[in-house]
Amino acid sequence: MNLFDVYPINDITIVKAKGSYVWDDKGDQYLDLYGGHAVISIGHTHPHWVKRIENQLEKIAFYSNSIRIPLQQELAEKLGMVSGKEDYQLFLCNSGAEANENALKLASFHNGRKKIIAFSKAFHGRTSLAVSATDNKNYIAPVNETENVIFLPFNDEEALIKCFNENGKDISSVIIEGIQGVGGINVAEDSFLKKIRLLCDEYGAVYIADSVQCGYGRSGKFFSHDYAGVNADIYTMAKGMGNGFPVAGIIVAPHIKPKHFQLGTTFGGNHLACAAALAVLEVIEEEKLMDNAVMIGKYLTDELEAIPQLKNVRGRGLMIGFDVPEELKDLKKNLLWNQKIFTGEAKPNVIRLLPSLALKRKDAEQFIDSIKEETSNASPKEEGLG
Ligand SMILES: Cc1ncc(COP(=O)(O)O)c(C=O)c1O
Repeated sequence: MNLFDVYPINDITIVKAKGSYVWDDKGDQYLDLYGGHAVISIGHTHPHWVKRIENQLEKIAFYSNSIRIPLQQELAEKLGMVSGKEDYQLFLCNSGAEANENALKLASFHNGRKKIIAFSKAFHGRTSLAVSATDNKNYIAPVNETENVIFLPFNDEEALIKCFNENGKDISSVIIEGIQGVGGINVAEDSFLKKIRLLCDEYGAVYIADSVQCGYGRSGKFFSHDYAGVNADIYTMAKGMGNGFPVAGIIVAPHIKPKHFQLGTTFGGNHLACAAALAVLEVIEEEKLMDNAVMIGKYLTDELEAIPQLKNVRGRGLMIGFDVPEELKDLKKNLLWNQKIFTGEAKPNVIRLLPSLALKRKDAEQFIDSIKEETSNASPKEEGLG
């Protein structure tokens, strides 16, 4: 049997990983500023994470949600404490798309409405509702086409107000990434998120903060939406939550009440997933990784801004993007093959940095040296005057 070929891949086989480094099967070492797509939050194979999973594995890995799983309550309490959303309620699942799917469904159960507002360049996942709220026609199968999703321009308050004025009583939810990831590192303005909060309150709609990529401390705050100083009704999370162990969840504000059987999952919240997620939060807290994200993020942003060929450096904490001009279109490839550094991208010309939140200053410096070398190598030579 062959694999179902849906991914263009780099011809590299990674066999080992530690902290911000990975090694291929030939023994070559790479600096990982991509984190397997923003997943590695506390660093590859962090010893505390490995121990906690190993210890759990020896006791019990899985049982279904038909029995008490005290680790879930422990995780809810820890997550409430680290995120500052102590009065929220946790529902656990397995992936980012599933988290968004559950959030959109729950909003609709809650207010009995059907319409969803999403934004240009949004990416919310591949399941049916999540993909319908994703602004990319190539990902939406005919069966997922719906009139229930209204796309508005990102950060456009006028368009948002107009939409609520015209459809307010039909709007079930507004879903927005605090920093768009796949869309190219676009930061939602604080005033825009505040306006969403205001309009959702006025019209009884649910504000859903998609924190799958920008959450879990990556921005320097637990949820990047927190920069706006207002709370969402539901936060969705995945990627960094398990540091590579598949675990995801939504947290739900107290005014939204649970009903038996409205949401459900077989694997979500299993013992092993909870152990992994707890280990991540323990390390984020213990090693003050949100502070590190702010500090190293600032260093990287300042240094990148000083490289004249790179344009529009943006982001927050360790979620950084910049535009690459046409003459440097192979920069990402050159960083990988010449410098042995993994970075992310967003089509057509954005490089995305999504490293572990534990990235060290010396690794950030190594990256800056390497990118300077690659940008100067690729610059067109100045013609002599004579
Ligand atoms: C903002 C956002 N939401 C949702 C998803 C979907 O997550 P998953 O691939 O775990 O289903 C992603 C994945 O890239 C994402 O970036």
